[in-house]
Parts: sequence; structure tokens; C-alpha cells
Amino acid sequence: MNQHLLIQIGQVHKTMHAMANQLSDDDYRRQYHQDLSPLGWHVGHCVFIETYWLREVVLNDNTITSKLEWLYIPENILKPERGPALPPIEEHLQWCKQLADENSVIFQQASPALTAHKLNKQDYLLKFILQHHSQHIETMAMVLAQRQLQLKPTISVSQPLKENTKISYHFKNYAGGIFNIGSPHEAEAFDNELPPQQIELNPFLLADSPVTNADWLAFIEDGGYQQRIFWDDPGWEWCKSNNISRPETWLANHDGDFCEISSMGAKNLEPAGAVSGVNYFEANAYIAWLRHTSSQYKLIRLPHEHEWEVADKSGTLKRTGEVWEWCENLFYPYDGFKAFPYENYSKPWFDNNHFCLRGGSQHTQDIIRRSSFRNFYNPDKRHIFSGLRLAMPTN
Ligand SMILES: [Fe+2]
Repeated sequence: MNQHLLIQIGQVHKTMHAMANQLSDDDYRRQYHQDLSPLGWHVGHCVFIETYWLREVVLNDNTITSKLEWLYIPENILKPERGPALPPIEEHLQWCKQLADENSVIFQQASPALTAHKLNKQDYLLKFILQHHSQHIETMAMVLAQRQLQLKPTISVSQPLKENTKISYHFKNYAGGIFNIGSPHEAEAFDNELPPQQIELNPFLLADSPVTNADWLAFIEDGGYQQRIFWDDPGWEWCKSNNISRPETWLANHDGDFCEISSMGAKNLEPAGAVSGVNYFEANAYIAWLRHTSSQYKLIRLPHEHEWEVADKSGTLKRTGEVWEWCENLFYPYDGFKAFPYENYSKPWFDNNHFCLRGGSQHTQDIIRRSSFRNFYNPDKRHIFSGLRLAMPTN
């Protein structure tokens, strides 16, 4: 078996344990956000998933998984029920470590049944497990960020964020044409990146950086969250019914200055840092506001995910990977899409209510950071380290 991948999987388990070890038993099993499972559940679920694919699917042995599927298959248990069902933290982490170590030994033994299995071709199974766990690490960072938000840490801000007097974006011009999108590496891609295909694009412009914290402050201070004209109907409904007036991760301290809450606690907001914690509705409201402020920006829009991918594959897209960047289009199946390795990895989300995000956040693991990777969320989600980058058609 591929030793390098096995070592990486071992490191991912260690990272998860380190994230869990800073918590009390209560925090470990607490659900901090309605869309997020408790942190401890993620640790158990990841070990379960690799045990399921390795032992039940490939080696035909469900001795362990049949006793655990009620808890660790998401469809079998509601999120609020997951935390109370977990064993005590120390016992649970010890069990997770032991099972992961056993799985690693089974991989290294490389029995004929394993090496000959179709899921082992080109190390697909190891790559799938590594990517699966890597995505859960990012979700666990979301849990820790939500935990910090509920603790409401405040700091006295040493450098209060000031509104930029003049917003100016630098755009790079991309020629139109026929381009390849999707992944040419079947063993490394998720089903929604396949099959690779050709698409046609008109010329377009993409900003050199994501929209910044200073830019967002200008939107806030100009009444962006209060003016109906900048919002579409569902966005306005969401904004008003949830009393929204700033990105999810911003917290005003007693001086009225904003600081940013991360999974580590409160910190200064960097003026030039990418704004994070905004949803698709907010991204579009910002764009409507920017169009309104200057004729120079009257054609501003979000990029289509193909534009983002083509720009990134050209090697010229700057400052990617700071925040997931909302794209204007819905998540949809590429021509010739085939669900793999199981029916419901992507398919349930082709529901005309999930929009694509590209790039990755500071919590995204390296193996997920690729040009063709497609993330997807409902338009009201903002706990996902999400921001935006501006696009425009070429005149
Ligand atoms: Fe999972």
C-alpha cells in the first residue's frame, strides 16, 4: 500500500485528536450550531467511515461496523442526538485511536482481497479516506469557531478597522475561449468533478484579491444591511428575520470596534484580510451596493465557477485559499456525471438550492486545495469560512 498516503491519514487522525484534546467532555459532545455535529462525533465518524470502506465493503467483514452504524451513518441519527450518544471523551478518543491503528495495520498487510479490490486501484480508497477526513477537519474547525462565538471573547482592539475611503479593485483580464474543466485524475477527484469536460467562456475580469474586511466595513457603514434595494427577496427576508448587521465572525467590543472570532479566539481584523463569515445573500447584497456606489462597478458580479477554475488553472489567480469564494451559479452535475463511490455523495445537493464555492479557507487541508474542487452550500450558510471575489465581463 502507498506508505505516504497511510502516513498522511495517520497525521490527519493526530490533528483530530489534538483538536479534541483541548475540550472538556461537555464541549466535546455539545452541538454548537444547528448544521454542525458535535466535535466528538466527527472523530468517531471518520474512524467509522474508514472501517466501513476497508472492512465492510472491501474485506466483507461488518463485525465492528454493524454495531456502530446507528451512530455514525449521518442518515441514521439526528444531529442533536449525536452528542449525548458518545462515550466519555477519554474513552472515546482511546477507542478511536485503537481502531484507526488497527485499520492502518490492515492496510499495511495488504492482503490479496484488499490489493485486488477495484476500490484499491490507483490507491483510490486511501485517497478517498484522506480527503474525507481532511474535510471533516475543516468542519471541526467550524465547530471550534462556533464555540468561540458562543463564549463571546472580547479583546481591546489595538488597531481598529477603519473604513477605506476609496475602494479600488485590481482586475486581471482573462481571454475567452474553449477550456478544460473538471479533474483529469479520476482516482483523486470526487464524483462532482468528473468527467472532465470542455466549456466555452466569454472574456472576463477577475479581481486580484478577495473582498477585504475594510471593504466590508464600508458596506456596513453605508447602511448595506439596512437598505432594501441591495437585497433580493429571500436575502432580505433572511437578513431581517435574523437581525443581521455584520459578518458572522465579527464581534463588536465595548468600544464599538470590531474584532474577528476564529477557532482560536478573538483577534484584530486585518483591513486587507479577506472578509469571512458571509453568505451568498450577503455577497450579492455587497455587489448590488458596489454597483450602486460607482458607475465603474455597474457590471460587477460574482464569478461563475468555470471562470474561477479557468483562472486558477492558468496560475495567475492571486490570494486563493484564504476563504471559500462564493460563485454565482448553482451546484449542478457535469455532463456524464456518475455517482461514486456511493449514490449520495453529491447527488442530493443538485437540488437547485446549493451554490458553488471555490478555493478553500485557511482551514482547508492541502489535499482539498485544487482548481477543480467544488464546494457547495445553501445561500443562507455563513459558518463555513466563506467570502467572495468580484468578477466583471470584459468591455
Ligand atoms: Fe463524512
